[in-house]
Amino acid sequence: MVPVFADEQAIQKAVELLKQGRLVGLPTETVYGLGADALNPEAVKRIFTAKGRPADHPLIVHIPDKSALEDWAIDIPESAWKLAEHFWPGSLTIVLKKQPDVPMEVTGGQNTVALRVPNHPVALSLLRVFGGGIAAPSANRFCRISPTQASHVEEELGDKVDMILDGGACQVGLESTIVDLSGLEPRLLRPGQISQTEIEAVLQISLELPNDREKIHAPGAMELHYAPDAHTLLCSIEQIKEILAGQVYQGNYKFGVLTFKKELQTSVNTHIIIMSADSKSYGHDLYNALRQLDNASVDIILVEYPPKTDDWAAVNDRLKKAAKQFTEMDNRKVKITV
Ligand code: TXA
Ligand code: MG
Repeated sequence: MVPVFADEQAIQKAVELLKQGRLVGLPTETVYGLGADALNPEAVKRIFTAKGRPADHPLIVHIPDKSALEDWAIDIPESAWKLAEHFWPGSLTIVLKKQPDVPMEVTGGQNTVALRVPNHPVALSLLRVFGGGIAAPSANRFCRISPTQASHVEEELGDKVDMILDGGACQVGLESTIVDLSGLEPRLLRPGQISQTEIEAVLQISLELPNDREKIHAPGAMELHYAPDAHTLLCSIEQIKEILAGQVYQGNYKFGVLTFKKELQTSVNTHIIIMSADSKSYGHDLYNALRQLDNASVDIILVEYPPKTDDWAAVNDRLKKAAKQFTEMDNRKVKITV
């Protein structure tokens, strides 16, 4: 499906499709979503089929403003209102106990629902005209990199989506932060641009991190979730230099590199992308960069470790899921299978 510029007429058409139970690719400030009417179980099932996603992986319901929270959730704690007030519209998803009429198809069979007011004019206007909740996971095939431009949605899903609204490149570029407020303690299920520190400052309480059982219900927390096709390794700059100098892998591999250093030498077999030293800009560019390297058909992507500070948590989380650490690899001159 070729993306359509998201003017008023296109949004109207998208609303009609949603009402008919069809799927619409839509821009948000984080990544592009694959949207369906959240109250229509058949439409929601189409999302899972289009993505090839297991049915027990819950979806985020996008709502037009915080006053809609009560349509979807019950027992809403004061902390949820505080976070909504402070961060919405924005890249924060809040998990709450669900209203009984929220379909189990949306929540992956759980009694909780994830809610977010996206901060993108096209998404907001679509939500307002539609007048309901739009269930939307990232618009990529299961276990692939999330799309940050309309053309990526086309690349990922082709004709499995009925319309793609083009609202330009996503401003944030990484998926939303997810906080679970459905239990006794608030938990951070997925780091994002809105950091743990910022949330803790608003709530005046520390966030717990999820245990392994909970991770099963948060596919975003799975290992190797956001992986490019190429074999991807996290390395130090010294390791990158050794690898590019042919001291580690034998074979005629094409390398892609994400690095902060400008002094690395390019060659015909190496595609180097210099990344920003600012965590927000890095996060904004990351998926695009990985996608670019995949499209250049590199065999191995070498990613220089970013800093470990709190503002890099979202980037490090996604890299950990996309890549293996070089030290875990057999780094004695072996031929690896890519
Ligand atoms: O930025 C975003 O969050 C994007 C845009 C489109 O809004 N959406 C997104 O959706 O990243 P998706 O499906 O790729 O990731 C949704 C995450 C998953 O990790 C899922 O487990 C979690 O939300 N989630 C959804 N409902 C949940 C629930 N009831 N309890 C726990 N986690 C939930
Ligand atoms: Mg996703």
